[in-house]
Amino acid sequence: MRNLSESTLTDAVLATLLTSHDARFKQIAESLVRHLHDFVRDVELTEDEWFKAIQFLTATGQKCDDKRQEFILLSDTLGVSMLVDAINHRFPEGATETTVFGPFYQSGAPELVNGANIATGVVGEPTLFTGRVLDHRGEPVAGATIDVWAVDGEGWYDVQLAHLDEMQVRGRFRSDAAGRFWFWTVKPVSYPIPTDGPVGPMLHAMGRHPYRPAHIHFMLSAAGFRSVTTHVFVAGDKYLDSDAVFGVKNSLITEFVTKPAGTAKDGTVMATPYVEAHYDFRLAQDHS
Ligand SMILES: [Fe+2]
Repeated sequence: MRNLSESTLTDAVLATLLTSHDARFKQIAESLVRHLHDFVRDVELTEDEWFKAIQFLTATGQKCDDKRQEFILLSDTLGVSMLVDAINHRFPEGATETTVFGPFYQSGAPELVNGANIATGVVGEPTLFTGRVLDHRGEPVAGATIDVWAVDGEGWYDVQLAHLDEMQVRGRFRSDAAGRFWFWTVKPVSYPIPTDGPVGPMLHAMGRHPYRPAHIHFMLSAAGFRSVTTHVFVAGDKYLDSDAVFGVKNSLITEFVTKPAGTAKDGTVMATPYVEAHYDFRLAQDHS
């Protein structure tokens, strides 16, 4: 392994992987080396560009902490997250489609009873969200766990607000015997993904805006079914066709309807106008 050149280097690196004992690791590493070398050859990377790439990845790592995940954001904005999602969730026709997990999930959200408000004191339009968890035949799934997280009415996740010590607009619910769950929140609004890290200038260089159409995140799981991580999007949002992370699917869009003051579907008396939205989730059976 000497005198390696443009034309022999790739094979020399690949040869070193022959001794790997992990077949899957070997497969991934071989493909990675091959694509990476082809990429460098394809664009004839300059040394200056190579160093900029090193700095970019270094800055991406340095931007990460327990509340900020710049690498997920990078993956999301390059469409890699949605590609991995698509490959890993080939659900049968009719099952609720998946979309990106995103960088803002926090474990440990409070377990709440149906009808609870996850946005008490939070700025935004009060919204009653009702849903059902169903199986592939449309039969209710009782006891499903439903994790919910979303932005406030100004487009911020709690973890982005430095002054906030506690969680807000997050909760965990369970479907009842009829598969139903419901909660109060604020109507989600479209928001820019964070642009104060390396992903921001990257989007700018690509000529892209950083906005995501308004949505609520959901993660559903129930015994005997495939878990689903997805969003419900607000119909009519102006960014539905240009989501910065490529996550929109028609089947995940629902109307958020403004209602006049009065008694909401769950019996809550509202002195001001409020919003109602509904979505039925259909879980795919787990055959594993
Ligand atoms: Fe989000």
